[in-house]
Amino acid sequence: MSTGVRSPSRARIEQKTLRQDRWWIYPTATFVVFTAFVVYATWRAFVGEFYYSTPYLSPFYSPCLAGSCVEGSADFGTPFEFWRLSPALIILIFPLGFRMSCYYYRKAYYRSFWLSPPACGVAEPHGKYTGERRFPLILNNIHRYFFYAAVLVALVLSFDTVLAFRDEDGEWGHMGLGTLIFLVNIVLIWAYTLGCHSCRHVVGGRLRHFSKHPMRYRAWTLVSRLNTDHARYAWLSLFSVAIADFYVYLLATGTISDPRFF
Ligand code: FES
Repeated sequence: MSTGVRSPSRARIEQKTLRQDRWWIYPTATFVVFTAFVVYATWRAFVGEFYYSTPYLSPFYSPCLAGSCVEGSADFGTPFEFWRLSPALIILIFPLGFRMSCYYYRKAYYRSFWLSPPACGVAEPHGKYTGERRFPLILNNIHRYFFYAAVLVALVLSFDTVLAFRDEDGEWGHMGLGTLIFLVNIVLIWAYTLGCHSCRHVVGGRLRHFSKHPMRYRAWTLVSRLNTDHARYAWLSLFSVAIADFYVYLLATGTISDPRFF
């Protein structure tokens, strides 16, 4: 039996939508930006070079765990000593899986790539709706596990941000434009990660009475506030992580040098 907009219980309306506003702007913009990001991230992940310029390690390559990591970039050792491909390919699955299965991103790419539906009150082109019960969309249900991995990655990126306060000789007390870019990036990454719906459940879920858990209630209130702006932080952190990576690329290729504040 047909489901979705062709279901027999739905009103018989010939037009795809009765909306007269420019509803198509949001899915079109999402499609363009996501596609651009995927193309850029794929290129950077596979290129396997120009990801480290002392003291900055690109967030796409952090932590660098492969035997092929350039000197100075493997702060956590090289447990994947045998790995000769790009080191980013070991680690990117975690932030990528986190974003791909994120509730907000799901809404965004279901609308802009699947057109399912393209917007509220606009008919989708598909005759059937199967939800997230089949491969590959059923994998989105492991989002909470990607959340745990994303927290670890965010901790590593925080460590990288601390290291960004060194100069080329390893002396502390340095601050350059790269340090600032890393700082903004890590704030946005944490705002996005802690605003996750799974985080909200971890912090405040399974409780009968908040009154008996004041600390968890306070944490849940904070996380809920971030959760309200989750979509905004999803976009901003996507931009900031790409900007941080591109900045390292420019430094590593010698295209620019890092302006120093002190
Ligand atoms: Fe968006 Fe978890 S819901 S990161």
